[in-house]
Amino acid sequence: MPGDKAKPLLRALAGEVLARPPWWLMRQAGRYLPEYRALRARSPNFVEFCLTPALAAEATLQPIRRFGMDGAILFADILLVAQALGQRLSFGDDGPRLDALDEHAGIAGLSLAGIVALDPVYETVRLCRAALPPQTALIGFAGSPWTVATYMVEGGASRDFRQVKIWAYRDPAGFAALIELLVEATSAYLSGQIEAGVDAVQLFDSWAGILPEAEFDCWVIEPTRRIRDALKRRFPTVPVIGFPRGAGHLYERYAAETGIDAIGLDTMVPLSVARERLQSLTAVQGNLDPVALLAGGAALERAVASIRAALGDGGFVFNLGHGVLPQTPPEHVAELARLLAQPVDRT
Ligand code: CP3
Repeated sequence: MPGDKAKPLLRALAGEVLARPPWWLMRQAGRYLPEYRALRARSPNFVEFCLTPALAAEATLQPIRRFGMDGAILFADILLVAQALGQRLSFGDDGPRLDALDEHAGIAGLSLAGIVALDPVYETVRLCRAALPPQTALIGFAGSPWTVATYMVEGGASRDFRQVKIWAYRDPAGFAALIELLVEATSAYLSGQIEAGVDAVQLFDSWAGILPEAEFDCWVIEPTRRIRDALKRRFPTVPVIGFPRGAGHLYERYAAETGIDAIGLDTMVPLSVARERLQSLTAVQGNLDPVALLAGGAALERAVASIRAALGDGGFVFNLGHGVLPQTPPEHVAELARLLAQPVDRT
């Protein structure tokens, strides 16, 4: 239930210090789990899989049953919004493919009215809500406008983000119209998730780290602040987590200026910076290297201990610095759950 502060994850997001940190993992549902691979085989089209509530709810619940995380992240994908606005989307072995938008056509082929296509996601939320243990928070999410725009303009993953940056540099007013459409779509989509029962929402800004400061202001901070404000007007008690992956020195301005409740730390954010400069502004979430989880053993144990020792005295949710890698042995996640259940070691 929104605002239900009894859940440990919500207490930590509100800045409360807990004896053991609540945890969840980005990409905690997915290919590293054999039960996910079996479920996924029932619907070869990934977009259809995401938009089939019974399957998506089952994928959401699988990691909770196995590992008992404090947060369940809704199973969906950030690119469903691009498809709902009118772009064709498919997923192949090389990742997502979209019919690239360009600066000449602009947003003429897109329409906000299409977001009713995301209604099945709200049904997934209701199914998850009904099945989750009462202490487990349900986390909704969306991509940030900038990150979703990179995929919409590049037509998929990119190495240098040339097309999307060229558009933003040469025609900032035209590009602003795309970002504006995404701000509206994302605010409506996250509002729908909250109305259906998510407890908190996360904005994934996977490509926040590729912009110079002036463009970071326009295309990352400003749209994030507007989505946050729109959500807070309607749902003042629902926490908003921002994850500006790769933002480096701009992490601090993001935490200070967007108004978000908690900030997702990527793997490279130094723990001293997180503790001294970020945790005083918002709760923090992170930031174990996904490869340390894959590697397991003593390195995993050491990394978990140092993250907890550094961040455990303030608002803190344990997570990875990016998503679980498909090669990760599920036993390592079980080991992580055991480590996090122990009292903190400050030696
Ligand atoms: O468990 C969870 O975290 C919830 C579900 C979730 C998925 N994608 C499912 C998924 C979430 C929160 C996402 C977010 C997402 N999607 C991001 C932001 C986080 C990040 O990784 O930076 C991005 C950039 C995407 C776009 C996307 N979706 C890509 C680039 C790919 C292909 C690469 C890959 O990792 O597979 C996807 C596909 C995807 N999204 C899968 C899953 C489980 C794999 C598809 C499959 O099962 O075949």
